[in-house]
Amino acid sequence: MTAPATAAPAAATTTPALEIRDLVVRYGSGRRARQAPPAIDRVSFDIAPGETVGLVGESGSGKSTIGKAVLGLQPAAGGTIRVNGTDVTAMSLKQRSRQVADLRVVFQDPYSSLNPARTIGQTLAEPLRLMGVRGPEAAARARSGLESVGLPGDAVDRYPAQFSGGQRQRIAIARALVCDPRVVVLDEPVSALDLSTQAQVLNLLADLRDQHGLAFLFIAHDLGVVRFLSQRTVVLYRGQVMETGPVEAVSSAPRHPYTVALTAAAPVPRPAEQAARRAAREAAGFGTAGVAQPSATGCPFVPRCPLATDVCGTERPALRLVEGTEAACHHADRVPAL
Ligand SMILES: Nc1ncnc2c1ncn2[C@@H]1O[C@H](COP(=O)(O)OP(=O)(O)OP(=O)(O)O)[C@@H](O)[C@H]1O
Ligand code: SF4
Ligand SMILES: [Mg+2]
Repeated sequence: MTAPATAAPAAATTTPALEIRDLVVRYGSGRRARQAPPAIDRVSFDIAPGETVGLVGESGSGKSTIGKAVLGLQPAAGGTIRVNGTDVTAMSLKQRSRQVADLRVVFQDPYSSLNPARTIGQTLAEPLRLMGVRGPEAAARARSGLESVGLPGDAVDRYPAQFSGGQRQRIAIARALVCDPRVVVLDEPVSALDLSTQAQVLNLLADLRDQHGLAFLFIAHDLGVVRFLSQRTVVLYRGQVMETGPVEAVSSAPRHPYTVALTAAAPVPRPAEQAARRAAREAAGFGTAGVAQPSATGCPFVPRCPLATDVCGTERPALRLVEGTEAACHHADRVPAL
């Protein structure tokens, strides 16, 4: 998948479609939960109207948790979330879905995200009903929503079981877009699809984004898929931003050791290249996931990082600009080229 991400981000002076500042999210309650490291630890980034920001990181890094906090499914313990300039941080899920129709989501699994007992028409009418749109207008919008994702309007009378995985994901996209949102959280929207269906759905998303000026928060495991759709990327590790910048710079010349490890671990179609990358990664000394707990005060990547020194264990590095990307690493200048 090599098609470029085409949408032009709006000028920096425009109000961001989504603005996240110093977000902290914790799971659980009580003293033990408060003492544990937060699932999301002071994360900040913006998405301009018409722009896609790809959120990447290995399993458990906190990608979905950020999506859940944006949608109001998980409360923020600190920081702020603004949608089109409106502070939604303290709004409940119900308030958010009524007041901020601007915000929608597409989840990974097209099999569990649609209610099997409801027709597609009923599924698409639900978000419209919450906005006060009913009757013939709701029916007409549901039909045109389905047509906009390449499905026939008469699909409204059928049930999810009558569609393939790719078609169901198109229905989930139609449901997200039927209210004319400005921001869409896409949580691994193509991970459950086969390769050719992935490409079709990614192309559809790119077209819809460009037609409607949508802002996408696009969550994915690997940089390859993110590169297809995103202008910028945010690399997450243990709930913290390790690196952020234009997607091309971050993927081809990463300045953070974790991004290097993530890129080297990404699956590639050619076995020889895959083996060479694995060997290079092992030779560089990168550890694997699940090793010792990092210190609470320093860089979270210390236990796996071949460049770690004493300062890494004691001081959390701030994001700083290094050759076109921002990296949170004390030794970003020493990171070897890919
Ligand atoms: N409901 C929950 N209760 C407690 N801890 C949770 C809950 N959901 C997630 N976590 C923890 O929060 C951290 C981040 O999880 P999250 O689901 O956001 O990761 P992710 O990056 O989306 O991973 P994946 O790629 O596997 O979807 C993990 O350590 C996870 O165990
Ligand atoms: S700050 Fe230190 S431990 Fe963290 S990524 Fe950079 S070199 Fe490695
Ligand atoms: Mg997830």
